[in-house]
Amino acid sequence: MNGWVEDELAAIDARGERRRIEAWPTPGPYLNTPDGRFINLAGNDYLGLTAHPAVRDAAARAARDVGPGATASRLLAGTCALHEELERALAAWRGHPSALLFSSGYLAAMGIVPLLADRGDLILADRLVHACLLDAARLSGARLLRFRHNDVDDVRKRLATRAAYRRCLIVTESIFSMEGDSAPWRALLEVALEHDALLLVDEAHAVGVTGPRGAGFTADDPAIEDRLISLGTLGKALASAGGFITCSPVLRELLVNRARTFIFDTAPTPPAAAAALAAVRLIERHPEWAASLATKSARVRTRLSDAGLDTLASHTHLVPVRIGDNEHTMALAARLRTEGILAAPIRPPTVPAGTARLRLSISLAHEDADLDRAVDALIGVVQS
Ligand SMILES: Cc1ncc(COP(=O)(O)O)c(C=O)c1O
Repeated sequence: MNGWVEDELAAIDARGERRRIEAWPTPGPYLNTPDGRFINLAGNDYLGLTAHPAVRDAAARAARDVGPGATASRLLAGTCALHEELERALAAWRGHPSALLFSSGYLAAMGIVPLLADRGDLILADRLVHACLLDAARLSGARLLRFRHNDVDDVRKRLATRAAYRRCLIVTESIFSMEGDSAPWRALLEVALEHDALLLVDEAHAVGVTGPRGAGFTADDPAIEDRLISLGTLGKALASAGGFITCSPVLRELLVNRARTFIFDTAPTPPAAAAALAAVRLIERHPEWAASLATKSARVRTRLSDAGLDTLASHTHLVPVRIGDNEHTMALAARLRTEGILAAPIRPPTVPAGTARLRLSISLAHEDADLDRAVDALIGVVQS
């Protein structure tokens, strides 16, 4: 291919940023492989629901009784009762008036952001928001400004030019995936109210594990009626696949009519919808799960920081350990692997250059003894 593909790959190699796809026998907090059992701290199965019989059975039943795929977009015969039931369940669980499903959280972002902001509008995005939100902001054609991470004063400063734009959208995450910290979303909501702006909160890592009923930080907030929009994924704590927006009914109606990633995309599969619905029902019945995960995670964080490791500002189930150099981070991850521990090495462009880290995702299904062993091993490799 004229050599340019090889050149691009060589440049990626030179930066120590080459990624490789690797197959594992099953997803989940533990991986049983021919090479032994791994504790998986690189996944997002925060409640261990990928292995829950009720979730698995729901998916299997839907595949058998409804079908493996939806075969059409929601607006063209692709909607089945499961989609509508899941949307009602998500809205009720989150205490929001309505919900709309997408095939992934990524596509939900690509659907909602260009709807809320267009040419002539302003988007203010936290410097560390997920790639899907930035891609969506770029697609929208709006002016995109990035504000300093979690810095409400910087948002205010950047709003000085607000009058030059028609609409304004502020974008943040409730729990930042690579930092494990959380946004001051209530303060951001106040700023949005003061400046006639909207606030979009990506709850991908919060839904299922925090907030009222484990339904995420923005659950029950009445600002959802006019100022607040929330985005979530079904692919992490809900152990399935898909994404959703919760918002006012009138905005949902506009999404159905205008969001291109809703209109021109095959509907989420019936097994995925059924699995997510079963997961929501389980979480509703187990309000204690969120607190148990928080306790487990606090223990890991405390032990790491007591040993002098830098866990950034994490205070959630996502615990980064900052290493800095790309190659060194990869080498440490490889050493942990030889001890049966999978910790995700996170490098640029996912995180800023020079801030490579090992990221631990804690799951309720991780045994404390295994987490202790993983922490000991991590401290050992970093300090050796
Ligand atoms: C913060 C955040 N937002 C959105 C997404 C996208 O969700 P999905 O995996 O369902 O496309 C992710 C997934 O990695 C994420 O971490």
